[in-house]
Amino acid sequence: MSDKSSDAIKPWGGRFSEPTDAFVERFTASVDFDKRLYHHDINGSIAHATMLGEVGILSEQEVQDIINGLEAIREDIVQGRFEWSVSLEDVHMNIESALTQRIGVTGKKLHTGRSRNDQVATDIRLYVRDEIDSLLETLLRLQLALLDLAEREADTIMPGFTHLQTAQPITFGHHMMAWFEMLERDAGRLRDCRARMNFSPLGAAALAGTSYPIQRETTARLLGFSGPTRNSLDSVSDRDFAIELAAAGSLIMTHLSRFSEELVLWTSSQFDFIDLPDRFCTGSSIMPQKKNPDVPELVRGKTGRVNGHLIALLTLMKSQPLAYNKDNQEDKEPLFDLIDTLRDCLKAYADMMPAIQPKKEQMARAALKGYATATDLADYLVRKGIPFRDAHEVVGKSVAYGISQQKDLSELRLDELRQFSQQIDEDVFTVLTLEGSVQARRHIGGTAPEQVRAAVAHYRALLASR
Ligand code: ARG
Repeated sequence: MSDKSSDAIKPWGGRFSEPTDAFVERFTASVDFDKRLYHHDINGSIAHATMLGEVGILSEQEVQDIINGLEAIREDIVQGRFEWSVSLEDVHMNIESALTQRIGVTGKKLHTGRSRNDQVATDIRLYVRDEIDSLLETLLRLQLALLDLAEREADTIMPGFTHLQTAQPITFGHHMMAWFEMLERDAGRLRDCRARMNFSPLGAAALAGTSYPIQRETTARLLGFSGPTRNSLDSVSDRDFAIELAAAGSLIMTHLSRFSEELVLWTSSQFDFIDLPDRFCTGSSIMPQKKNPDVPELVRGKTGRVNGHLIALLTLMKSQPLAYNKDNQEDKEPLFDLIDTLRDCLKAYADMMPAIQPKKEQMARAALKGYATATDLADYLVRKGIPFRDAHEVVGKSVAYGISQQKDLSELRLDELRQFSQQIDEDVFTVLTLEGSVQARRHIGGTAPEQVRAAVAHYRALLASR
């Protein structure tokens, strides 16, 4: 990055009588971070120049020179040959100035009928739109991995928890589909945000529109927007889409942090429910026995930083008067970092998910240890005509007896069970098995293996139809 002192080259230098203070120049510059918008800035400029040509403000030759110049600049940037300058403040003025250097006076005509305010509003929407598309792709990869895992483990039994106490047996596939549901809502939120955001602010100019006979529909169409925005003041000041993405991103991270917490618990020797392959774990420099679930832990930790960016963006916009204010330059770093973080965390999960190996025996044993079929015994007694509250009492006593004998309900003898109710017969043992318990819950949304497979099929069809 060069630091030419530059009072002469400032595009807005006309009304100034002394050069910018060196510190102020650095303080107000954004090029260090907004240069990542170069691709979208160039695309926006090409659309703008094309439109200026169509309405006769630029000649055909001028439009062609501008497009060739911008493409050459894009190539320089891609090849790492472009020299960014802090004194040119931001990505927009760096590229415009390079264009003029390259093609001469025609370059100075590009900014006709536009301002950096609608320019940056356009660039950032184009950037966010692309990033949402790529986040959705990675999210889909993770969703498909969950569907595969759920299908593979539709019959695998584990304890289901409430209050982190063993509650009822469920299937591992059912648990994976609960995660899937969270991500499916996340995908919907990303798509909503994209659709609401996809309108072109180009032409709003500084704040009030422009006196040139521009065609806003043309630039909107060229850039793939649904149409132009409808109010120039709002166009240059609105950053709702950044906040919406951050809010959707915070929820994604909240979900990933919940998956992470469960993976961390499940890989512990206390639970010992799953195996996470070595390539997703690290060791300890002092304790040779350790294999730590670093990836889930780190994802869980990164939730804080995305939540922080959401608060930063909300606070940035709070009380801002219309229209554009320099405050808005502060939208970029939180936005970029939250997108980068989301991309990495979703990738980590999409890569890791297919590698998760449930330990079936340990999970089944844990379900048995926790009296997970107690509700099934109560339901059995209700079917024999006992009111639910009385059945609850009978089962409570049976469980207490089982604890004293260190036996699961299914391991008690019939005569032991009949101490608590004469209604209990030999057929009780089918409902007391873990398999009998999960199979009994076979309505929509229940944990029965057939329902897990039905949910997988439902979502496979839905994802394929998009
Ligand atoms: N770098 C600025 C930003 O990111 C571009 C817009 C500057 N506009 C202005 N009137 N100073 O917001």
